Amino acid sequence: MRYAIRPMRLEDVPQANEIDRECFPTQWPPPSYKRELLFNHLSHHLVAWEVGENPDELIEQREQKGSRPGRFLARVRRLFYADEASPSNQRIVGLVGLRIMGDVAYLTTIGVREAYRRQGIGELLLISAIDLALMRNARVATLEVRASNSAAQALYEKYGFTKTGARQGYYSDNREDAVIMTTDTITSAPFQSQFQRLNRAHAERWGPAQCQID
Ligand SMILES: CC(C)(COP(=O)(O)OP(=O)(O)OC[C@H]1O[C@@H](n2cnc3c(N)ncnc32)[C@H](O)[C@@H]1OP(=O)(O)O)[C@@H](O)C(=O)NCCC(=O)NCCS
Repeated sequence: MRYAIRPMRLEDVPQANEIDRECFPTQWPPPSYKRELLFNHLSHHLVAWEVGENPDELIEQREQKGSRPGRFLARVRRLFYADEASPSNQRIVGLVGLRIMGDVAYLTTIGVREAYRRQGIGELLLISAIDLALMRNARVATLEVRASNSAAQALYEKYGFTKTGARQGYYSDNREDAVIMTTDTITSAPFQSQFQRLNRAHAERWGPAQCQID
């Protein structure tokens, strides 16, 4: 695949804002990614970036087996120092945000630049978000989506989210209702077998992708 996943860094914030403006034009200004990255330890953001013709740029997938303080320091270091393998001129094509509270992972945002849609990037971001939720011991994933957003709903349904509720007039720009969509237990055998099947199907269709999620 021509795209890879890694955690968002401060240097990505201008491009994240661009993507937000393109994906959610009526909800401008976007949430402060900078504040989220620096101060909200419950929130996690991943970006999809274009590897293009330069697969050498790919970041080696590094297993984070360290202790919690080790992981925290690694996160701080990553936020401030771009390593050689990930120059600041990478083109960010999509992003996903998660907030993990207790055993619930809230998908706070997901978006792909318009010109890059329908190439499996949204799916790759969702797979990575679920992987991250699993890694952080979440048991369910949930989100709100506009009632009219059939593309996003189709993506979520593909990954086992079902409609579990609604919030009337939730969106302040046009008072549109939100649909609440939630997974079954993501650690359960049925969810896992479906998730792994979709993961394999995605890799077969679009090619394997390098995903560094933590
Ligand atoms: C929703 C969004 C992230 C999907 O990203 P994407 O990269 O185009 O999606 P993918 O190519 O990975 O498609 C994966 C699946 O999503 C669904 N999907 C995506 N776009 C769709 C569309 N226009 N119509 C119907 N289904 C669609 C399909 O189920 C698709 O699977 P398939 O290829 O087997 O049919 C993208 O449309 C987007 O950024 N929209 C604007 C922001 C937004 O609405 N975010 C959701 C907020 S809740």
